[in-house]
Amino acid sequence: MSDVADVARPARKVTTLAELTPSQIEAIRKIPAEKDAVVVPFGATRPNAIFTGRERFDLEQEKIFRRYPVPVTVSALLEPGSVVANDSYGVPMLVSRTRDGTIKAFINACQHKGSKIIEDCAVHKQGRMTCPYHAWTYGIDGKLIGVSRSEAFEGLDKSQRGLVELEAREWGGIVYVQLNRDIAADWSQLSSQVAEDFTAIGIPAAHVYGRKAFDLKANWKVVLEPFLEGYHVQRLHAASIGDKFQDAPNIVDMFGPNIRQVSGRIGYVPEMLDEDAGANVHKLVTHAYTAFPNCVVITSQYYTSIMLLMPRDADRTVVEYFMLTPGPATTPKAEEVFARSYELILGVFGNEDFRAAEISQAGLNAGVPEATIYCGLETNIVRYYEAIEALL
Ligand code: FES
Ligand SMILES: [Fe+2]
Repeated sequence: MSDVADVARPARKVTTLAELTPSQIEAIRKIPAEKDAVVVPFGATRPNAIFTGRERFDLEQEKIFRRYPVPVTVSALLEPGSVVANDSYGVPMLVSRTRDGTIKAFINACQHKGSKIIEDCAVHKQGRMTCPYHAWTYGIDGKLIGVSRSEAFEGLDKSQRGLVELEAREWGGIVYVQLNRDIAADWSQLSSQVAEDFTAIGIPAAHVYGRKAFDLKANWKVVLEPFLEGYHVQRLHAASIGDKFQDAPNIVDMFGPNIRQVSGRIGYVPEMLDEDAGANVHKLVTHAYTAFPNCVVITSQYYTSIMLLMPRDADRTVVEYFMLTPGPATTPKAEEVFARSYELILGVFGNEDFRAAEISQAGLNAGVPEATIYCGLETNIVRYYEAIEALL
């Protein structure tokens, strides 16, 4: 599991132990004191081709990313009456929240001749969208509401030319969309426990402080791996945040192909949990989730990181990173510390975890190692792979 430093202090609200779900609390209570943590030796391998091969990439696309709904953004990004474009899975898409609060997703293609309707990736607060080409206008509910020079069209039925809709749903504050229109969305791989946990840590009601996209030269699983193991934390992150985290296994629970890890911070002892009922539980423990199939959530003391790892090729992944805070900064001091936290976290993930992914991919692409090998501090990677492989 990777994690981030905690620069930000003056947030308005913290999460206490009692606000978590019973399932989260039960897991936290299993974390031993740092000195009592035991690592059980473990051995497993995975062939190089799962990170480099075209065959495996195509199979994952068919059996996972184009079969099940995938996460495309966070609920908190879209207030009622706003819309954002998203191309991250290679599908031009619009995601909107209508005035009544409903999330909708559409193919970002005009029903006249296919032009993208919104070209940038900013959030637009507007009730309608106008195609840049011939200025057809759509509501953010997808209805075609205006055709310029409509008298020039013979037999045009506007009601038949609304935007093509994709099935969409919010799940614990994450927006999921079914990319493949040929099959009905199957929501069975998503976990209601994970959605409850996300709600307890404030994800649906959060504020998006910042978001940034990274286009990485690495397979999505190579990007994911550091978020499923603690082995690298004191090493890769030695110069940044490594000294805040234990070199010990996490407490792990799986909910179908979803994984929840929780770990004590450096010097943790269980008695700390009951010292102060009003204390910020994320000062003591770190939650790290991988929500099926590619959504990573990591808690820090005063903010939560969400990353969507979107595969574009066997060795290319677009990551969208979101830093969520309980609310917007209300003072210049708060803004300053949020800004420093944001810079720091982007440095840790960008210059350390994502860099590790890219330099590993370079070796894997050269055929080395023939098989990756995992130890007792990396067992969660293998558990997650087993869950994914069962779907292929
Ligand atoms: S392509 Fe959109 S109005 Fe012509
Ligand atoms: Fe990391």
